[in-house]
Amino acid sequence: MDRIRIRGGRPLEGTIPISGAKNATLPLMAAALLSDGPLVLRNAPDLADIATMGSLLEQHGLAVEHDRVARSLTLSGNATNLEAPYDLVRKMRASVLVLGPLVARHGRARVSLPGGCAIGTRPVDIHLKGLEQMGAEITLDAGYIEAAAPRGLKGARILFPQVSVGATENLLMAACLAEGETQLINAAREPEIEDLARCLIAMGAQIEGVGTDRLVVEGVGSLGAATHGIVPDRIEAGTYACAAAITGGSVLLQGARAEHLGAVARTLREAGVEVEAVGEDLRITRRDGLQGVDVMTEPFPGFATDMQAQFMALMAVAEGAAMVTETIFENRFMHVPELNRMGARINVHGASAIVRGVPRLSGAPVMATDLRASVSLILAGLAAEGETIVNRVYHLDRGYERVEAKLAAVGADIERLPA
Ligand code: UD1
Repeated sequence: MDRIRIRGGRPLEGTIPISGAKNATLPLMAAALLSDGPLVLRNAPDLADIATMGSLLEQHGLAVEHDRVARSLTLSGNATNLEAPYDLVRKMRASVLVLGPLVARHGRARVSLPGGCAIGTRPVDIHLKGLEQMGAEITLDAGYIEAAAPRGLKGARILFPQVSVGATENLLMAACLAEGETQLINAAREPEIEDLARCLIAMGAQIEGVGTDRLVVEGVGSLGAATHGIVPDRIEAGTYACAAAITGGSVLLQGARAEHLGAVARTLREAGVEVEAVGEDLRITRRDGLQGVDVMTEPFPGFATDMQAQFMALMAVAEGAAMVTETIFENRFMHVPELNRMGARINVHGASAIVRGVPRLSGAPVMATDLRASVSLILAGLAAEGETIVNRVYHLDRGYERVEAKLAAVGADIERLPA
């Protein structure tokens, strides 16, 4: 398996282009199941998770064409196979997003349960309860979700007991083809959901309340073709903002949108990092020392759980202490022992981690068990003295496009070591 070697200590200077958002692209691809298409997605990132979703849709019977030069994905056709098999779903939880569209359009689906994953148990009960409220019959059989709505889905008033990005997306897509009005209350408001809603509207859906926590959908008989530009990846932007900050550099994040960073931009400023919108881009600069700041992860516009590990790496070299509290996932501190091996002083107490800043980290061989944890180790490596080797790079390839090339282009001493 490939590894990444970093020799730390160089301030980053230059421009980093921000790719299309992975977490927007995955539901947008699933939305292709709602019509014969073609659905053309522009600014598509080239990532392992996108390829996995492509394979899943292909086995359902869609034609998926990824033009890596034009950075576009074209999806067309109608599903002929309504089963999402375990082998693909277990690779990526977001596979469960095919459930709503398949049941809405075809009246039934059989989707493997995603099961647990490294960062927690992550059930799909909210997705299933919502579909039941829309009239689907759900049974669990041999590790599979069987959903049936032979006479189609019906609009319903769905009040989410907890904010869920995936459940909001699944039910929003399903509601587009349901009969009558669906209300999604306490819906997630992540920019990726707004992006999905805009694409669905371009396909002919009737959705109100876009960008709010109350989405109202009037079902239509069918959806058609559309071309949609994918929103820039706010987590990739936030990650490179931390890279600039941890190295004491200054980078221009091309295409990054300040309003999508939510509390991350505010927290970076509190820590002493300059975050400045420059036209369509964002400039991140750190001139002076970093200050410890407490953060708590929350649904958007709160501090994103997908930025927690990266921010913790930054706090590891800040002055003073920082308390990092994770409220979304119960087991998302796997980066802590690895950061500590690099000289960080972090103690975990339940859902909180106390980070006591140290003047300098030292390079070490490290590995991580999830995507954001892996990239936090890259950030630590950029600031550390000496050499860091990050193992298990496949996690990074799921969510960061050419991470080593983008960082090397702004002056990092980083390279991929092929297996
Ligand atoms: C999405 C993102 C992921 C991000 C997360 C939270 C994608 C592809 N993934 O994941 O990167 O970390 O949002 O911002 O967009 N829950 C339930 N029952 C359910 C559904 C969720 O209990 O049916 C719980 C989860 O276990 C978790 C919380 O709700 O504790 C939020 O999860 P959710 O927002 O659904 O995350 P995902 O959509 O899986």
